[in-house]
Amino acid sequence: MNKKVLTTCFAACGLIVGLSLIPVSGIMAQNVGRPEMTLNGGSKGPVLFKHQLHQTVVNDCAVCHKDFEKKPGALDAAKKIGVLRAKQVMNKTCIACHRATKAAGERSGPTSCNACHS
Ligand code: HEC
Ligand code: HEC
Ligand code: HEC
Repeated sequence: MNKKVLTTCFAACGLIVGLSLIPVSGIMAQNVGRPEMTLNGGSKGPVLFKHQLHQTVVNDCAVCHKDFEKKPGALDAAKKIGVLRAKQVMNKTCIACHRATKAAGERSGPTSCNACHS
């Protein structure tokens, strides 16, 4: 093969590899939100929440996001308009899972008030 053919070949390969990466980077570009955040815990005080840690242990965004949008402030907004009751996510989502995983002898999170609220 002469030099020109080789160059053309490499350019074509580069193009194919480049194009095949576009769908992958499209998935990777999903907005996963902040790695950590402080949630409004009302009169009991703020709750430090490790979002990224939960994304790896929970494996399904909808476990939490079925109740509120993937937007900063969405949880408070849903409580404000009455779509969610006060402490509903805390009891039905957060503590419910921590209890269930603990009972099953799996990795789990806190269930006592002051371990979440500070
Ligand atoms: C264990 C619960 C939980 C899981 C699982 C979870 N999130 Fe969230 N997410 C939250 C909470 C709580 C908020 C904060 C909402 C608020 O500010 O009111 C949030 C906020 C967000 C936001 C808004 C930006 C931000 O930083 O506040 C995005 C985007 C988001 N999540 C994406 C995701 C994606 C994508 C997944 C799955 C890969 C996921 N979340 C899984 C609880 C969760
Ligand atoms: C696993 C973490 C966690 C534990 C344990 C926990 N909380 Fe919460 N709490 C939260 C989160 C997150 C919120 C905000 C979401 C909601 O209101 O559902 C919250 C909200 C609250 C609010 C404010 C509700 C409002 O809208 O005014 C109060 C009050 C509260 N918790 C009291 C308690 C008490 C009392 C206990 C112990 C019996 C407790 N929490 C245990 C995470 C927790
Ligand atoms: C479906 C299960 C599940 C749900 C829902 C869930 N958690 Fe957890 N959480 C876990 C597991 C598992 C761990 C232990 C992770 C580890 O450290 O290995 C954990 C750990 C934690 C910790 C301790 C983190 C640390 O290491 O400092 C806190 C605080 C916490 N969760 C708060 C919350 C709050 C607040 C919510 C609701 C918005 C929530 N969790 C919802 C499963 C869950």
